[in-house]
Amino acid sequence: MTDTRTETVTVTVDGHEVAADKGELVIDAAERAGVYIPRFCYHPRMKPVGMCRQCLVEIDTGRGPALQPSCMIECSDGMTVETGTPVTIKAQTGVLEFLLINHPLDCPVCDKGGECPLQDQAMSHGPGESRMVEEKRHFEKPIPVSDLVLLDRERCILCDRCTRFADEVAGEPLIHFIDRGNQTQVNTFPDHPFASYYSGNTVQICPVGALTSSSYRFKARPWDLVQVESTCQGCAMGCRTSVDTSRNRVLRQNGVDVDPVNWGWLCDKGRFGFEAIESDERLGAPLVRAGDDLVETTWSDAVRFAADAIKDAKRAGGAGAVAVLGGARLTNEDAYAWAKLAKGVIGTDHVDAQMGDGLPAEVVLGLPRATIDGLCAPGGTILWIGADPREELAVLYLRLRHAVLEDGVRLVAVTPTATALDGLATAAFHPAPGDLPALVAALLDGGEAPDGTDATALAAARELLDGEITVALGRGSVAESAGYTVDAAAVLARTRPEAKVLPLLRRANVNGALDMGLAPGLLPGRTTLESGADRLGVVWPRVPKAPGLDATGILTAAAEGKVDVLVLLGADPLADFPDRELAAAALAGARTIIAVDLFLTESSSRADVVLAAAGPNEVTGTHTNVEGRISVLGQAVTPPGTARPAWMLAAEVAMRLGADLGLESVADIWAEIESVAPSHAGITAEVLAATGDGVVAPMEAAPLQTTVVDDEGVALGGTDLGPEGGAAQPEVDQDDAPEPSGEGAAHGDTGSTGPEGAEADDAELTESDHEGGGDAATVDVVEGPDDEQDEGTSSPSVRFVAPEPTPVPPVDSYALRLVVSRTLYDDGTLTQAAPAIAGLAGDAPLRVHPTVLERLGVEAGSRVRATSPRAAVSLTVVADPGVPRGVAAVALRRSGGAGDLVDVGQPVTEVRVETTS
Ligand code: SF4
Ligand code: SF4
Ligand code: FES
Repeated sequence: MTDTRTETVTVTVDGHEVAADKGELVIDAAERAGVYIPRFCYHPRMKPVGMCRQCLVEIDTGRGPALQPSCMIECSDGMTVETGTPVTIKAQTGVLEFLLINHPLDCPVCDKGGECPLQDQAMSHGPGESRMVEEKRHFEKPIPVSDLVLLDRERCILCDRCTRFADEVAGEPLIHFIDRGNQTQVNTFPDHPFASYYSGNTVQICPVGALTSSSYRFKARPWDLVQVESTCQGCAMGCRTSVDTSRNRVLRQNGVDVDPVNWGWLCDKGRFGFEAIESDERLGAPLVRAGDDLVETTWSDAVRFAADAIKDAKRAGGAGAVAVLGGARLTNEDAYAWAKLAKGVIGTDHVDAQMGDGLPAEVVLGLPRATIDGLCAPGGTILWIGADPREELAVLYLRLRHAVLEDGVRLVAVTPTATALDGLATAAFHPAPGDLPALVAALLDGGEAPDGTDATALAAARELLDGEITVALGRGSVAESAGYTVDAAAVLARTRPEAKVLPLLRRANVNGALDMGLAPGLLPGRTTLESGADRLGVVWPRVPKAPGLDATGILTAAAEGKVDVLVLLGADPLADFPDRELAAAALAGARTIIAVDLFLTESSSRADVVLAAAGPNEVTGTHTNVEGRISVLGQAVTPPGTARPAWMLAAEVAMRLGADLGLESVADIWAEIESVAPSHAGITAEVLAATGDGVVAPMEAAPLQTTVVDDEGVALGGTDLGPEGGAAQPEVDQDDAPEPSGEGAAHGDTGSTGPEGAEADDAELTESDHEGGGDAATVDVVEGPDDEQDEGTSSPSVRFVAPEPTPVPPVDSYALRLVVSRTLYDDGTLTQAAPAIAGLAGDAPLRVHPTVLERLGVEAGSRVRATSPRAAVSLTVVADPGVPRGVAAVALRRSGGAGDLVDVGQPVTEVRVETTS
């Protein structure tokens, strides 16, 4: 929790003087001094309420000792606290006896048994035996308060933690105390289930077994569990988790309180989504195509098949005939190995970890980077441009909510439709597709606002944004060009060059994938092909010369038959790419598809060979979150069958291609990343191991002095060696000379090229392919940098250069502009493979402003035909006053229409909506 108090006071706890911040609660100061005061209702991430009275201690502020709840009293100078006096013990014992009057003695069958604060504190601070012999109260048990949470009301000790969390932290007061006296109980309102994205947190913080999760109930006892700390890979927030396993099965995932990131909270997708890896549908062996079927094969055959396809493609069409799509689900180490294989061995730069729904890499890496703490710093001002954080980075929303409501942060929200931020923001705007750059210019530069902008809100926002701001920048809709967000970034870079920016990319490790070079024009370490070539050339056989294609470009080229081998690196373009028709044409047009996946998805089931990969909780490695924070992933279970970590698959394919990546373990890979990636310099495995919170890259560090040495100890290169300093020069592909093209081209100086870029380079792998990659380069850290840092800094060499603005087409008054957004739950493979959350995706109706529906003569709830230049689809329409007039909004689903309507070649998607009856 952010703490701005600085004044120090001295209190005496059980005879020992303790320095405390003025305002610090007695219960916390005592705990810091090693004195644990029993408690139930107190939770350090919520406001104290003094409900349970378990924390009573004798406090003397000069007027004599008195029993006081230590979670409610702030430390003051000269205060004396006694936690072990007879009076205190009698009070604490009495409270426990009182709590146990009605608490059932079903510990042997209660999920909380063995890790229950009531059980523990009854032993440590309880009376030993009860004087009460009366019948305890009874309730029907358990009752489901949501799809995920069960409530045993008779176990509840009315501590108010769950109800406070729902109201205070999540802002969804869906569970309450109802009834009175002995019958007081926690419950939901009739017909209002606890339908919250955050409901699992109440299970975690309930101090008894009153709230249990349906997925864990009766599954294990705490002493059966092995606990591994890791990072959630559900989205780019990177919440820290503890993963509980028993007999090689993950049974539960809880949040770990990491101050700069998730404060102990998880969203339900992250908490319960782990079940996907347990699915019977998981691939446990490689598959190869035999006619219409994919059949199990041996690893050597599968890898040989993949390598032969790549060799053939290179012979026939050069390195540019191979393209790699995906990688955002991988670990950093996996992503690096695949970048080394694709760019360093094969030589193609047609590589993109994003799926056409993110931002160009130079926007992500080329602007000064904000941290989550920086964004939420007390008293600051946030300009939020992007999607609904509840849907895309769910726990970030909790941080934002706290920042605004408790820490005086002011917010200007710019989202395509109304979101949960509207209630928090001083001013909220919903520009129609295409209007974002003009609105941002109006906010930051006094430009003319788009028609319909609320003048009062605009004036208030301008005043607010006049001072120092921190910006969160992402794509609000995938039905409009990323160019508009890039143009908004250009306004920002011009008017507020010093403003720090948190890039709102959603996919789990997309930030790590970009850092590792899985984007056109990039090399590991946030360097461009040009700026990173010297350093990477030390350990890579080659470096592509010219930027390749991004996801749209790759799929366009594949659809045109210009891609011989398409590698899907945990990517499912048919489900995830905003333009389904293009994705389908690309999969049909690529001559060979190699998929690296956990499941047979809609896309990977069209592959010619599928390499079964290990998934979350099955591998070690590192993860990079939205702010560039690198944290360690723990392996909790083994992968099914013979599924392997993706880095190992890259190494094996490389070996078949005749190149040795020189990467034999995760530790090897991290050491190489640390040595060659300037943004990661100094972030050694030891530094990572020493901090549970992770480390933001790049470290604000002492001058970096990392040297890469070969087996003989001869310096090959490193951060203290320029090319003149002895670093080997890379082999640079000379004949891979693509021509720029508008389609699929990224912006700025990491810009990609069009399909024409898929030109031939050297057809054969040569001897030189073997050089470099096989060197067992070791890293010699001459001087470790200071690991104290909390603000991200700008990237080492990627620069954002504002491109030509994306034109805004004139408004078609017969059509509505389409907004396609993401929701936390969807019908994607991973969500659907996790039984607990599979049914929570819900429908994705077309949402239209009620007055527009009226004008169209369409009844809410009816089926309509939505027709774009691409397709006509049938959808249910609902009235939503949060959708601007002139706009129709829908959530992206694998099935159901939105992806069919979008043509990524168009800057906006216009749809005509008509009733079908
Ligand atoms: Fe406290 Fe649990 Fe009861 Fe909620 S259900 S009030 S968290 S004991
Ligand atoms: Fe996992 Fe993202 Fe949810 Fe955090 S917000 S628990 S990282 S899915
Ligand atoms: Fe202090 Fe409950 S912990 S009153």
